[in-house]
Amino acid sequence: MLTNFQKAMEITTGTSSVRDIRIERIGAHSHIRGLGLDDRLEPRANSQGMVGQGKARKAAGLIVKMVQDGRISGKAILMAGPPSSGKTAIAMGMAQSLGNDVPFTMIAASEVFSLSMSKTEALTQAFRRSIGVRIKEETEIIEGEIVEIQIDRSVTGATKMGKLTIKTTDMATVYDLGSKMIDSLAKEKVLAGDVVTIDKASGRITKLGRSFSRARDYDATGADTKFVQTPEGEVQKRKEVVHTVSLHEIDVINSRTQGFLALFAGDTGEIKPELREQINNKIGEWKEEGKAEIVPGVLFIDEVHMLDIECFSFLNRALEDELAPLVIMASNRGTATIRGTTFRSPHGLPVDLLDRVLIISTQPYSIADVEQIIQIRCQEEDVQLAPDALKALANLATETTLRYALNLISTAQVVARKRKSTVVETEDVRRCYGYFLDEKRSTQWLKEQQGSLVFDALGDNDVTMATS
Ligand SMILES: Nc1ncnc2c1ncn2[C@@H]1O[C@H](COP(=O)(O)OP(=O)(O)OP(=O)(O)O)[C@@H](O)[C@H]1O
Ligand SMILES: [Mg+2]
Repeated sequence: MLTNFQKAMEITTGTSSVRDIRIERIGAHSHIRGLGLDDRLEPRANSQGMVGQGKARKAAGLIVKMVQDGRISGKAILMAGPPSSGKTAIAMGMAQSLGNDVPFTMIAASEVFSLSMSKTEALTQAFRRSIGVRIKEETEIIEGEIVEIQIDRSVTGATKMGKLTIKTTDMATVYDLGSKMIDSLAKEKVLAGDVVTIDKASGRITKLGRSFSRARDYDATGADTKFVQTPEGEVQKRKEVVHTVSLHEIDVINSRTQGFLALFAGDTGEIKPELREQINNKIGEWKEEGKAEIVPGVLFIDEVHMLDIECFSFLNRALEDELAPLVIMASNRGTATIRGTTFRSPHGLPVDLLDRVLIISTQPYSIADVEQIIQIRCQEEDVQLAPDALKALANLATETTLRYALNLISTAQVVARKRKSTVVETEDVRRCYGYFLDEKRSTQWLKEQQGSLVFDALGDNDVTMATS
């Protein structure tokens, strides 16, 4: 049996390279590239995909600034406003302007109920995903200019062996190569004359550039080749590297039953509280020794009114924890029933939680703003819109919602294509308006059909905030 202390000693942090996978797609918010604020945090009229909603964007910018300075954690913000007034969009903008090093986790409140774990565990995991630990580690690296790579293949080609000669201005060393290293050298296209660093523990190779001494080998250099000096001193040296991982990643990697692969599968299961405690203690030690730094990030809970009273009381408590991120919530509810109770409360949140939050409100858009947002979306979706059609869509947006109008862009394009036109005209928009109901017309239709649909009961007492 290991003692607690020994177990804690084994805590590993893995590498953070897993987190760099990003896929670019056109999604509802893919046009948002930041909050569109200037250096004084004043909102620009139309920048980084953001239009209007100046006050809310400025408020969001202030919060981002405080997070970046590490001055805000354990606080909560509520974004309240009518549907499709940009609450989620602003949260995405915040995520973009926080940068890669600050963790930003986004969950929809309903996810908490659909996972194969308890609600509080799901929330705890979301909290711990949003706290980064910046770890300084000393690693052994090999750094120098490649003199020669020599590879001997066996007759069958199955096993490969080789030798790597690497030099600095002061010395040269020859290393034996295994087949894994040979493969990574081939993958990185490392040639003689390249200056590289090789992480001894992981075998990861980083090309720094080509050596100046090889600047005359024209055939081996492309136009964008970077030239660097041959390093000085020892070939093998110790170097300090810094990487940021989230507390949740550390939890998962160290939980015996799951292991590293669970991070990719997303199937992490419940994590034992004792393990978390050990990890917290260890990180506390690292912090004191100057080896680690806590980076409080942001947890965004969208549609927060979907949480129930147990989750809310968990939040109340968790926000007071020493390791708490900034929690941003969004709700489009007016006065609504708190889930799990019969009480009604503003935004569907219990008053004791409301008391702890700063509220940012989003306002309905002016028609000029709406026009600009529609134009941005057309660029994003590669749709050409005739000026009249733009006016028609903007009018529709004020009558229905912005989101409904944005959804019509791509459908109208399909209709336009059917009549072999590359430009979307008012006619196409009008047709789509006929094909697809918006929320108001759908409600109207339900009223007319009253009783003929399954589970049809009007007068549900939850209401969303008014759009205008
Ligand atoms: N200020 C803005 N600038 C650019 N695009 C915006 C802006 N506000 C909203 N949008 C876009 O309009 C659409 C609807 O906005 P969003 O989804 O943010 O609304 P929401 O307030 O979260 O609504 P809900 O309460 O229904 O969730 C999105 O595609 C969003 O990217
Ligand atoms: Mg939203």
